[in-house]
Amino acid sequence: MKTYQIHNAKVTLIEQPMPECAADQVLVKMHALALNHRDYLVVNGITRWKLAEDGRVPVADGAGEVIAVGLLVTDLKVGDRVSSLIVPNWQDGEMTADKLQGSPGGPGADGVAAEYRVFKHSAVIKIPDYLSYQEAAALPCAGVTAWNAMVESSQLKPGNTVLILGTGGVSLFAMQFALMMGCEVIVSSSSDAKLAMAKELGAHHLINYATNSEWVESVLEITGGEGVHHIAEVVGGSHLNLSLRCIRSGGTIAQIGAIQGICEGTVDTAEIMYKAVNIKGIEVGSKAMHSRMLKAMQTHQMKPVMHKVFDFSQLGEAIDYQGSGSHFGKIGITLES
Ligand SMILES: NC(=O)c1ccc[n+]([C@@H]2O[C@H](COP(=O)([O-])OP(=O)(O)OC[C@H]3O[C@@H](n4cnc5c(N)ncnc54)[C@H](OP(=O)(O)O)[C@@H]3O)[C@@H](O)[C@H]2O)c1
Repeated sequence: MKTYQIHNAKVTLIEQPMPECAADQVLVKMHALALNHRDYLVVNGITRWKLAEDGRVPVADGAGEVIAVGLLVTDLKVGDRVSSLIVPNWQDGEMTADKLQGSPGGPGADGVAAEYRVFKHSAVIKIPDYLSYQEAAALPCAGVTAWNAMVESSQLKPGNTVLILGTGGVSLFAMQFALMMGCEVIVSSSSDAKLAMAKELGAHHLINYATNSEWVESVLEITGGEGVHHIAEVVGGSHLNLSLRCIRSGGTIAQIGAIQGICEGTVDTAEIMYKAVNIKGIEVGSKAMHSRMLKAMQTHQMKPVMHKVFDFSQLGEAIDYQGSGSHFGKIGITLES
């Protein structure tokens, strides 16, 4: 079977024997993968995402069909459609440092960019019938993170205002969940074309942060000078200062991102005090959160926004494309062609 490995900041396709599943594992024939900014950071060895050594299988998220089950597995059967989990050790309850270990496609574990992959039976989740393999593959990292930020760890109420920064994977899921919750959504993007697409999806207000250097003022104007209730802060570093200017008193900033690996910057701590801002760090989410997200999505028949699907043979090209930020929503990889 074919699998990718990371060598010298590039993904290389190699041939390997078929994996065999142990008693507590399932063997999955992978049908689809989906990329995240994280995959670009890991492959390119950027800042804290640099791997200690070469040989890691890339890509965190994927979905496929169970084709064999270990002797002790009772919760899954051959033919089940499943997707991976972003942190398989965080099944439920509060997050701990230990539960975050072993996330696929990062320093702690191999990813899913392979034709066949064994998983511990608890490390996958069944896919609702209405989602394709490709759509389900888009959910583990970006979807669950956005769900955690907008629903599980937020105090959002219908009618509240939400600022969505950019139109990448996490951002569009955050927008969809905010709309699902009846919130008024402001989307910022570097592209008018992407803003037009966000409007089609239901965004109420659009701001181009690249051409409008006063975009923070625009956010304040839209909210009558008050600022927004909630921000999905996917940019990271000193950008938090801009988010602090956009947030209203008592509002929440979900600190999610580090675009291009930038995790440091100087922050105006007075603004945090004077506005009594809640800054909530978000680190992906548990299997239980993933399950609740799927239930809500199914109820609303919500689907991920897929921008483009590459063939499995084009993984390197797709990862470069992810890093370029040209996409709107999610980039998929198919193993079905
Ligand atoms: N904490 C966690 O658990 C967690 C989980 C998942 C992701 N993340 C992080 O969240 C971020 C987003 O991940 P992703 O996979 O959704 O990335 P992505 O799909 O590659 O999206 C990147 C988008 O960010 C937007 N952007 C870049 N600079 C911006 C700026 N200055 N202001 C506003 N928007 C800006 C751009 O949108 P436009 O093209 O529209 O301008 C770009 O397309 C990354 O930093 C990632 O590492 C964290």
